[in-house]
Amino acid sequence: MRNIAVLTSGGDAPGMNAAIRAVVRTGLANGLTVWGVEDGYAGLIEGSFRRLGTRDVGSIIQRGGTILGSARCMPFQTPEGRELAIRRLHGAGIEGLVVIGGNGSQAGAHALQQMGFASVGVASTIDNDLFGSDVTIGVDTALNVALNAIDNLKVTASSHRRALLVEVMGRKCGYLALMAGIAGGAEAIVLPEVLVEPEAIAQRIQAAYDRGKPHAIVVVAEGAKYNAGRLCEAFQQRNLLVGYEIRSTVLGYVQRGAVPTCADRLLGTRLGSEAVAQMVAGHTGLLVGMCRGELVTTPLETVVNGVKPLDPWFLKAADVLAQ
Ligand code: F6P
Repeated sequence: MRNIAVLTSGGDAPGMNAAIRAVVRTGLANGLTVWGVEDGYAGLIEGSFRRLGTRDVGSIIQRGGTILGSARCMPFQTPEGRELAIRRLHGAGIEGLVVIGGNGSQAGAHALQQMGFASVGVASTIDNDLFGSDVTIGVDTALNVALNAIDNLKVTASSHRRALLVEVMGRKCGYLALMAGIAGGAEAIVLPEVLVEPEAIAQRIQAAYDRGKPHAIVVVAEGAKYNAGRLCEAFQQRNLLVGYEIRSTVLGYVQRGAVPTCADRLLGTRLGSEAVAQMVAGHTGLLVGMCRGELVTTPLETVVNGVKPLDPWFLKAADVLAQ
């Protein structure tokens, strides 16, 4: 293999640039030519490739986002779209592809591999919902952004004796909410994985009020049946009293755009570098991830069919610690 390409796909995640840099520099060190694909799978279909040298990835390790751009691409989800992508890759003389992204992105890598195009995935999504890696690129930074916000919100909530609902991202997965809730000392955490009715949440907030707490923080996952908006609505419509005045804040995209933490820079670097090592060794059709602190590979087939559950220890602890 002499030519490989790298793309970032799906939601951007802090640390993606560290992974791109590692792919490029490890590839060059192995005598490969490395191409960057612009805007994820959309760029594959359009044949938007640019050759990346070592200087092209200089001073990017500290930057959030992705220098290659990212997109969610519907045409790539059709067989015709994928065939066109492979023709573009062959046309540019590219023989292997590193895909940095989450579930949808790795499903794309798996489809390419099944069609005979050598692909290796790098586990990256702030949601941490990807099977095959305990932790994915971007999670640590996103959690720290959420925590900073929670710490600040706690201050103003205390001044005004309010309950603050803080909605965090995560799609259908409650990982960010659970971890930010525990580390942020939340009074209640609302997750997609555990259905809790508004009445029970209201009771919890009221109990915090009755215990004399000057504030209540409720961390709510965006994918929960009752997200922050719906929870506020339910409190009003069902006349649920909680003691405090209620306000809500949706953190949204600020969690994605931050400067990557040290942990995310190191994770991106390790996973990106290992993806090239696997490719050079002729091992493709797999995801490179990190489990129990060690680099691991998992077949893409297993990754796309796998479901990563929330850690039961943290789920149980959340209830006990909120007292
Ligand atoms: O998958 C990462 C993520 O930020 C999710 O947490 C969120 O639901 C989604 O992407 C938002 O997607 P988009 O960038 O397409 O609006």
